[in-house]
Amino acid sequence: MSAGKLTLERPVPDDARRIHALQREAAPHCIPQPVDEIRSRLDEFQVARDPERGVLASVAVRPLGELRAEVRGVVVDRRLRGSGLGSALVRWAIRRAVAEGRQLVCVTRSPAFFESLGFREIPLSWIPEKPARPPGGPDLPARVAMAWDPEPARAGQQEQVRHV
Ligand SMILES: CC(C)(COP(=O)(O)OP(=O)(O)OC[C@H]1O[C@@H](n2cnc3c(N)ncnc32)[C@H](O)[C@@H]1OP(=O)(O)O)[C@@H](O)C(=O)NCCC(=O)NCCS
Repeated sequence: MSAGKLTLERPVPDDARRIHALQREAAPHCIPQPVDEIRSRLDEFQVARDPERGVLASVAVRPLGELRAEVRGVVVDRRLRGSGLGSALVRWAIRRAVAEGRQLVCVTRSPAFFESLGFREIPLSWIPEKPARPPGGPDLPARVAMAWDPEPARAGQQEQVRHV
């Protein structure tokens, strides 16, 4: 499946179930956000929508206090991974945090992906809002806390989704 003519946009209430399903399928080791929670926080989300196939990827930015925000729930339909879509959504999250004057952080089991977008590791204790012991088994990769480093040469500025 190719990326085709995707648009990045804010989701509508009917998208909440699809976002939940994407989270469940894309990251089975994580607990998906409940549909009602997604629906009540749609302003935090951005989705990639195909006119025929619907929502194919999603991300959210949640404020953490006044100064920081967390990028979370970045998921791309399995058939579209590697097309640059995940990067495009995280760059949206970066722009949003910058526009709001917040430092953007994340807690992830895929640090290499975020590192490629300009995030650098920070101590997990710097994000006290995250539980120290999340659900999951001992065979999962460790969770890594990261913060976006605004050094432009490393953060990457390109906006295109590859293979469109
Ligand atoms: C992680 C995820 C969102 C990446 O989306 P994507 O559209 O496939 O990523 P991109 O095409 O933008 O890839 C950007 C770069 O990150 C790398 N990358 C992608 N997924 C990666 C992963 N899981 N771990 C390490 N590196 C990864 C790519 O190889 C690419 O590197 P390159 O530019 O040198 O080629 C997607 O694989 C996914 O939905 N995974 C399941 C959910 C998940 O693990 N989310 C992150 C949890 S916090």
